[in-house]
Amino acid sequence: MSRFWSPIVQTLTPYVPGEQPKITNLIKLNTNENPFGPSPRVLEAIKAETADTLRLYPDPNADRLKQTIAAYHGIAANEVFVGNGSDEVLAHVFMALLNHEKPLLFADITYSFYPTYCSLYGVKHRVVPLDENMRIRLADYDQECGAIIIANPNAPTGILLSTAEIELLLQAHPDVVVVVDEAYVDFGGETVIPLIKRYPNLLVIHTLSKSRSLAGLRVGFAVGHPELIEALDRVKNSFNSYPLDRLAIAGSVAAIEDESYFRRTCQGVIDTREKLVAGLKLLGFDVLPSAANFIFARHPQHDAATLAANLRAKAILVRHFKQERINQYLRISIGTDAECEALVDALQQIIAQ
Ligand SMILES: Cc1ncc(COP(=O)(O)O)c(C=O)c1O
Repeated sequence: MSRFWSPIVQTLTPYVPGEQPKITNLIKLNTNENPFGPSPRVLEAIKAETADTLRLYPDPNADRLKQTIAAYHGIAANEVFVGNGSDEVLAHVFMALLNHEKPLLFADITYSFYPTYCSLYGVKHRVVPLDENMRIRLADYDQECGAIIIANPNAPTGILLSTAEIELLLQAHPDVVVVVDEAYVDFGGETVIPLIKRYPNLLVIHTLSKSRSLAGLRVGFAVGHPELIEALDRVKNSFNSYPLDRLAIAGSVAAIEDESYFRRTCQGVIDTREKLVAGLKLLGFDVLPSAANFIFARHPQHDAATLAANLRAKAILVRHFKQERINQYLRISIGTDAECEALVDALQQIIAQ
């Protein structure tokens, strides 16, 4: 606290990201990064861009990237907004589209950046509890609201709503913006991007951090009706003209163009996830059904915080949230086969002690 702070700063509860350890040779399963490196074509594209041209500002609109995304999803470039990670895109969304007289609705257990943006931008909101099976119950969203945001698959549960269910939500709320954050959709879901043609109130958020293995490059995007995109552009152009640098634009274009690498690595993560789920179930864990690159699991006889601490002592990082309702769960990112086998071995030893 300082007398120099703006009043709002004193009221903020900043988001706390998972640990990025400074030491190496840890098994890092705590921040949902992809165990596969980015496509070799991404690295080539970034190297080619590492040139004298870095003295010049990048394209403020990242048109090449928008066109690549539009072509990939069969939409128009003016239906795409890009930003410095989907976190930045989401921040602009909260400011530009979710701040209304009536409250924004989101689940009690979901991406914990949502309440943080609400406090930053003064967005009125109401949390809608997941049901007893940690699922979103659509009927609970049948209430007056200013907007809705849903992570699908949800984080940190990994549970997926079907396209038909998202469409029911859109039909029930034609007069408010419905944001679907699909950060993890490529690991088992189906994107609702095609629905933007029929629902001008739908905005879909994607990131290149997870399924394109580019968490370090910071690229995310939003897709929706041009009027929604225009609102985001107005905020972005009042904040930072150049959210994506030249390397990020070159690398992310190459990532989206390398479809076969993308499909192969997503399938690799899915296969490892299914083996990990089987291994954890054999140890007695309850594992929620995951369509993401992480799983959410608890052991009926073992305290989750203690398990996480014991894993840390064995140089394995997983994520534990102290939040009510989920403080007996561990969120475990899908690593390589070898990393996940090491995790199961370590848990077996810890549980046997
Ligand atoms: C649901 C969800 N949305 C968005 C993000 C932000 O991703 P990024 O800012 O890396 O694009 C995350 C990151 O963990 C997430 O879990």
